[in-house]
Amino acid sequence: MQASPSTTKLPRRVSTEQALGSYWITTFGCQMNKADSERMAGILEAMGYYQADQELNADLVLYNTCTIRDNAEQKVYSYLGRQAIRKRLDPKLKLVVAGCVAQQEGEKLLRRVPEIDLIMGPQHANRLETLLGQVENGQQVVATDNNQILEDLTTARRDSSICAWVNVIYGCNERCTYCVVPSVRGKEQSRTANAIKQEIEDLASRGYKEITLLGQNIDAYGRDLPGITAEGRRKNTLTDLLYFIHDIEGIERIRFATSHPRYFTERLIKACSELPKVCEHFHIPFQSGSNEMLKHMARGYTIEKYQRIIESIREKMPYASISSDVIVAFPGEREEDFNQTLRIIKDIKFDQVNTAAYSPRPNTPAASWSNQIPEEVKIKRLRQLNNLVESVARNLNNRYLNKVEQILVEADNPRDSNQIMGRTRTNRLTFFSKNGPSDITYNVGDLVQVKIDEVRSFSLSGTPLK
Ligand code: SAH
Ligand code: SF4
Ligand code: F3S
Repeated sequence: MQASPSTTKLPRRVSTEQALGSYWITTFGCQMNKADSERMAGILEAMGYYQADQELNADLVLYNTCTIRDNAEQKVYSYLGRQAIRKRLDPKLKLVVAGCVAQQEGEKLLRRVPEIDLIMGPQHANRLETLLGQVENGQQVVATDNNQILEDLTTARRDSSICAWVNVIYGCNERCTYCVVPSVRGKEQSRTANAIKQEIEDLASRGYKEITLLGQNIDAYGRDLPGITAEGRRKNTLTDLLYFIHDIEGIERIRFATSHPRYFTERLIKACSELPKVCEHFHIPFQSGSNEMLKHMARGYTIEKYQRIIESIREKMPYASISSDVIVAFPGEREEDFNQTLRIIKDIKFDQVNTAAYSPRPNTPAASWSNQIPEEVKIKRLRQLNNLVESVARNLNNRYLNKVEQILVEADNPRDSNQIMGRTRTNRLTFFSKNGPSDITYNVGDLVQVKIDEVRSFSLSGTPLK
């Protein structure tokens, strides 16, 4: 599970008749944005748009943006520059900026790029058709007000035919002092368990095998829903949701992200160990190994509590993989604080860690603190951390050597047409030959037993057994 921002482009699709024109979506950022893009693509296709063969040919270009760090934000301005030039030559081109930069900057974006037709925050993703209608009437539209997110009735146009994201909670009510997410994604809003179950049942009926439940702080699921048990416990927790959706026929694997150490419960760990479809992979960001830094970040836990969570997971699921996110050079971080982060990486032994140097963000407390860390220290610490993360991951991967792993096949290997790729239950990317013993050919969606014969830092290769 990658919580860290990346850029993805949706692949090409066949054109439809009576089309409104072609569209292109470029998605920056995390899985929330990817899930939103898939829903927006679904809306566009239901309206009669089809996918363009390339960005510079599209009649409608939508950038779904990320602002988690400054470099993520800057990327979109260079993309927009290109389209602004096109729009001056072709006024019919529709230019849409969605996502977290749209929410953060709002109208200010129009001053910077007056060619934009529609600016829409993440809470407005499901309203794309209505908003485009307003654009059609000749308006330049900015939709960034707080919005109750309504259930989307359009079928998402999903990237994969096997693995699907399922939003369970939108927004975030935490106030980590470095983080822009609460101000761009708004207040927590959980979907009802029934709506979630229905979506998963529909996915299962269309052949999906794996689902990932999504939330910025997934442990907060249900806090805004009513219901208390006889013992005085909240009824609609993530744990309850896992039990509620577990038995849907056809779904083979269930994952969830992102977990918050402050709210991660023993009950959840027990549920994961009891429920066979829930995969043994946990993405639990710890951000810093120093309690001092955690306090200034307002994370609400100590590193000792974090270590106890991991111990408990490994007690019940010794084979579990653990991934995390870390920030280096947060304001005031001393050499000894940073060393504690390194120590935690060595002690816990993570399968993967998304690392980043602290980047000051608009409307966040830490951005205005005077104890910022110089750029050269940021770079040095980040490099040192990345080296350690990689060597720990490589060593840890040796535990897969000669083991037999169950792989869910997701796609062809884009670099080798004789190979296919998928992931272990623990989320390790694994490559193997398309052709198995006795003339079997494997297809996307198959569950295959693969003996691992080569390990690298972040992926594996193996031989299918049957
Ligand atoms: N909800 C998740 C994180 C979402 S943002 C959580 O609570 O852990 C993904 C990651 O980006 C964070 O875990 C953090 O490591 C990183 N990040 C967030 N704000 C950042 C900033 N201002 N500078 C550098 N990294 C940041
Ligand atoms: Fe940001 Fe903290 Fe919310 Fe995660 S929990 S999205 S880091 S404010
Ligand atoms: Fe980026 Fe928004 Fe996700 S800021 S990381 S796309 S919630």
